Amino acid sequence: MLKTALHFSRQLLQEVLQPGDTAVDATMGNGHDTLFMAECVGKTGFVYAFDIQAQAIENTKARLTDTPFEQRVQLIFDGHQNLALYLPKETTIKAAIFNLGYLPKSDKSVITLPNTTKKALDALLERLAPKGRIVLVAYYGHEGGEEELLTVRNYCEQLPQEAYNVLNYQFINQKNQPPILFCIEKK
Ligand SMILES: C[S@@+](CC[C@H](N)C(=O)[O-])C[C@H]1O[C@@H](n2cnc3c(N)ncnc32)[C@H](O)[C@@H]1O
Repeated sequence: MLKTALHFSRQLLQEVLQPGDTAVDATMGNGHDTLFMAECVGKTGFVYAFDIQAQAIENTKARLTDTPFEQRVQLIFDGHQNLALYLPKETTIKAAIFNLGYLPKSDKSVITLPNTTKKALDALLERLAPKGRIVLVAYYGHEGGEEELLTVRNYCEQLPQEAYNVLNYQFINQKNQPPILFCIEKK
């Protein structure tokens, strides 16, 4: 069976992440991707995870407590647009993930936004390692979601082919706006 965008996003991350790598979860939420990437980068790697909701930090902290991954993750209570404040320019990132939209079962008015997503992408591209990947899974059924999807699509489309491979993965015959995946890979 073809993979859902969520499952495919994990595959794309796992294919490039090696023990010792640095990764970024730009939209921590309940920490599923944070934990997944911490497993991939092993004892010597590191994951920076961002969210603007205290609930996300608490939920992820609880998920990591008493796991071997606790020491390999920094949970940052700030927007991903401020990434440059936390990751020095010399930091090389092997993979990053965004799940765009709102946190399920939480405040649906707290959503990711086009301009801040773009700013975070700019900062990540500056730090992306060769063969590194940025994966974006856009949930766009909510108000403002279509606008963000368009922004992300335009951003991805204008990246120069000489420097990046850019992939778009989506089911085109499904109801209820299934998420759309983008992957930017640095050559
Ligand atoms: C779709 S959810 C992420 C789900 C998460 N990947 C998980 O495993 O549970 C989107 C998250 O992005 C967060 N968010 C919104 N704007 C943000 C920003 N500027 N920087 C970082 N996180 C943000 C929301 O608070 C929400 O938790």
